[in-house]
Amino acid sequence: MALPGISISSAFLFFFLLPSLIQLLEASSFTFNNGFNGKESDLTLQNGATIDNQSGLLKLTNTSYQVTGQAFYSKPIQMFAKDSTPNKTHQVSSFSTSFVFAMVNPRSRPGGYGLAFTISPSAEFPGAEAGHFFGIFNPSNVNNSSNHIFLVEFDTVDGFNETEDNTGNHVGVNFNSVNSTLKKIAGYYGDSNPEEKRYMILDSTDGELICAWIEYDGVEKLLNVTIFPTSLQKKPNKALISRHVDLTSVFNEKMFVGFSASTGKMKSSSHYILGWSFAMDGKARELKFNLLPKLPNQDGTSSLKPQIIALIAGLCALLLTLFVILGYLTLYKRMTKTFEILEDWELDCPHRFKFKDLHTATKGFKDSELIGVGGFGAVYKGVLPSTGCEVAVKKITKNSLQGIRDFAAEVESLGQLRHKNLVNLQGWCKKKNNLIIVYDYIPNGSLDSLIFNPRGNIFLTWERRFNIFKGIAEGLLYLHEEYQQVVIHRDVKSSNVLIDSDMNARLSDFGLARLHDHHGEISHTTGVVGTIGYIAPELARTGKASTATDVFAYGVLLLEVACGKRPIGSGNFILVDWVTECCQMGRLLDVVDPKFGSEFAVEEMELVLKLGLLCSYHKPEARPSMRQVVRYLNGDDLLPVFDGWGTNVESQGEYRLSTRCMEVTSNGTSTSIGAGVSFNSINIGR
Ligand SMILES: *[C@@H]1O[C@H](CO)[C@@H](O)[C@H](O)[C@H]1NC(C)=O
Ligand SMILES: *[C@@H]1O[C@H](CO)[C@@H](O)[C@H](O)[C@H]1NC(C)=O
Ligand SMILES: *[C@@H]1O[C@H](CO)[C@@H](O)[C@H](O)[C@H]1NC(C)=O
Ligand SMILES: *[C@@H]1O[C@H](CO)[C@@H](O)[C@H](O)[C@H]1NC(C)=O
Ligand SMILES: *[C@@H]1O[C@H](CO)[C@@H](O)[C@H](O)[C@H]1NC(C)=O
Ligand SMILES: *[C@@H]1O[C@H](CO)[C@@H](O)[C@H](O)[C@H]1NC(C)=O
Ligand SMILES: *[C@@H]1O[C@H](CO)[C@@H](O)[C@H](O)[C@H]1NC(C)=O
Ligand SMILES: *[C@@H]1O[C@H](CO)[C@@H](O)[C@H](O)[C@H]1NC(C)=O
Repeated sequence: MALPGISISSAFLFFFLLPSLIQLLEASSFTFNNGFNGKESDLTLQNGATIDNQSGLLKLTNTSYQVTGQAFYSKPIQMFAKDSTPNKTHQVSSFSTSFVFAMVNPRSRPGGYGLAFTISPSAEFPGAEAGHFFGIFNPSNVNNSSNHIFLVEFDTVDGFNETEDNTGNHVGVNFNSVNSTLKKIAGYYGDSNPEEKRYMILDSTDGELICAWIEYDGVEKLLNVTIFPTSLQKKPNKALISRHVDLTSVFNEKMFVGFSASTGKMKSSSHYILGWSFAMDGKARELKFNLLPKLPNQDGTSSLKPQIIALIAGLCALLLTLFVILGYLTLYKRMTKTFEILEDWELDCPHRFKFKDLHTATKGFKDSELIGVGGFGAVYKGVLPSTGCEVAVKKITKNSLQGIRDFAAEVESLGQLRHKNLVNLQGWCKKKNNLIIVYDYIPNGSLDSLIFNPRGNIFLTWERRFNIFKGIAEGLLYLHEEYQQVVIHRDVKSSNVLIDSDMNARLSDFGLARLHDHHGEISHTTGVVGTIGYIAPELARTGKASTATDVFAYGVLLLEVACGKRPIGSGNFILVDWVTECCQMGRLLDVVDPKFGSEFAVEEMELVLKLGLLCSYHKPEARPSMRQVVRYLNGDDLLPVFDGWGTNVESQGEYRLSTRCMEVTSNGTSTSIGAGVSFNSINIGR
């Protein structure tokens, strides 16, 4: 029975006493953790101090110069133990407070001065000055013990370093004065190594949030001051300042607690209090940092006007654009190294190659890929990335831009030529002033190099050479007569005959000389298009190329290859003249390339030599057509009855021919071959 009675009476007692208990607790402790908005009545704000309705921030000062702001808890706090009998030692009760503050500097100027946690007999400070005086003191009342003011200052200016007093950024404990009794450079001690002090900068443009604890043990008379960045989350175990201090003489019975901040003549910061808890006779409530209001835009100053921000943003955008353009240009420059810009007409050209592909194919026109340097430019071996086909890439330099379109048209048409004895022109490409022509790659190189600079073990036997003669003739025949239009090679010579893997002849560079004709390039050297030694006399005179001038060059080539001698040698050696002479002297076979030994068919040799002389005859009318040449070489026709072979030394006017070279003379006289003594004088006239 008694048990419910006790229970009911204690419950009654509890509910009855609760309001007064709460009142008691309220009077000696409070917490502002999630902003000060709506708490205006709890605080006394003075001067510049405001509470931002939106964020709930308590702002003590803005960044104006020489301003102050104070915010004090509205109700006074009983600082001495109430129940202390007069006989008992009159002592200040323990108290504890924690708060989070930020000093936000303008971006363009130095910040200052500082704020102070203040315990004072009054919440108002008439006549107080800014700057050093923290909005608490003025020059006349400073250092007067009748002030009864206790400060813990967080000062950025004119402060003290631990040895001397001239550095800012310190924490100080002051009694009735702006001069600190205790002072330490702002910082905290790490828990892992309490001897190691980490320094802190109190003010910053970012507005670093700093948590401060001020604890006073009334029994021990020990004052502890601790600060740490809220990013540390946890209060360090070791206090920054820990000193025995007797506040008895400083404090009055009832005191107001709060903050005061000031800016100076040249230095100013916005001073913010984000949260605050206070407790008498116990530990103040730990603030939950995540609940604190947010600083405005992390700059919190009015120094950056919207226009300035817009200007900065604009400048950034401009810079970014410039960078993008610059980057693009750089990229573009790199791209155009390998890519070309196409003109409209180029799009219709099926034989056009991409420069990029050719660049890749030739490994960037690397010297190691060079397979020859001709009159038109350097020739590189390449492997087309798309097909893996081997190609010869001829890079023709120094062409005038105007010629390119003609060139392309020409090459386009030449690209349609297809014959087993032609080197297929696969396509072309232009790149700035460089023109590039792509041919089939012919592995064995030129006839010229096989005869005069043989590499490896390829020897051109007579059989092979004879076959090559036929091939060249057929190729020329195709150009002259079998294609839809007459194509004059213009530069028939041994170095323009390539030998494929089956040892067949492939004519290259056909038709191209004409392009150089257009551009007048070769005129600097020979006056006409062609190669010295292969130029027909009438071509040298008139500069007009014809199928007959091709035949002339072909004739020279026949002699060259059969004799293994260059058309023009040192001294005044002219191959055609020499062969003619030997022919005249009845010693035609003396001219045969000694490398053959006796490994050649005499009839074929004689046929070739005589045909060579016939073709390289100085009078174009006397030269056979390529169709005819093919027939002679195939044995379809015998060499013609011809009224004269001789030198093309025109001054002679009269040519003697060896009967040995002739089976039939123009007058029908048969001569005995092998006699070698009788000569007929034949006037071939001019
Ligand atoms: C700064 O605060 C002072 C009062 O302390 C006020 O007079 C002044 O207008 C404020 N300045 C700005 C820019 O808000
Ligand atoms: C802020 O709050 C005060 C009092 O509650 C009010 O008078 C004032 O108009 C408010 N200001 C804004 C901008 O809301
Ligand atoms: C109280 O203590 C004071 C000393 O602080 C002493 O002088 C006084 O006699 C004491 N009074 C009583 C009633 O004990
Ligand atoms: C400040 O006051 C204390 C006593 O209250 C005195 O000892 C000290 O000299 C004073 N300092 C100045 C600068 O007036
Ligand atoms: C200290 O302040 C009190 C009250 O304001 C005043 O009466 C006294 O003269 C001051 N003392 C000095 C040294 O200024
Ligand atoms: C403190 O001041 C003294 C004298 O001006 C100076 O030598 C010393 O470097 C300062 N200490 C710090 C930590 O700034
Ligand atoms: C504060 O300290 C400085 C230097 O120690 C001294 O010159 C000055 O007079 C002091 N001011 C007050 C009000 O005590
Ligand atoms: C004050 O600091 C000292 C040393 O760091 C410590 O021993 C003591 O417990 C602290 N007191 C309070 C009330 O935090």
